[in-house]
Amino acid sequence: MALERTLSIIKPDAVAKNVIGEIYTRFEKAGLKIVASKMKHLSRKEAEGFYAVHRERPFFNALVEFMISGPVVIQALEGDNAVLKHRDLMGATDPKKAEKGTIRADFADSIDANAVHGSDSLENAAVEIAYFFAATELCPR
Ligand code: PPS
Repeated sequence: MALERTLSIIKPDAVAKNVIGEIYTRFEKAGLKIVASKMKHLSRKEAEGFYAVHRERPFFNALVEFMISGPVVIQALEGDNAVLKHRDLMGATDPKKAEKGTIRADFADSIDANAVHGSDSLENAAVEIAYFFAATELCPR
């Protein structure tokens, strides 16, 4: 087992549904520790920078608009195989295709308001964690 860190974002739709605690409980029950956490209303510039890799995709503007439509909760999670474990907890990008019992199946309404974000690789996790957290804000325990 490899101890990893991954970046997780609870998106504006899930924050508006008041399910932050329920989502945190899923992380904790799966053995993922929250080692950094903040609630933030992203600026357009922050959202565009975070999703820059998707700039050419047709949904880019819609994704940015959605991500700045309300506050998000951003956390770094640590645990064995954290990247994949967190992706499994989230479920498929499109909640209609997400397995029963996953966060997206339970809390997301559509592919463009899909409750959570999670890093898709260990390399991207390091970049994404550094995008939102200074090294001194991470609290390994
Ligand atoms: S993923 O999760 O990266 O494997 O999925 P991908 O299909 O590459 O999508 C990248 C991010 O874009 C979001 N997305 C969309 N937003 C709005 N409208 C549409 N149609 C759409 N399709 C995909 C998707 O949720 C991914 O966002 P994050 O925050 O990474 O989950």
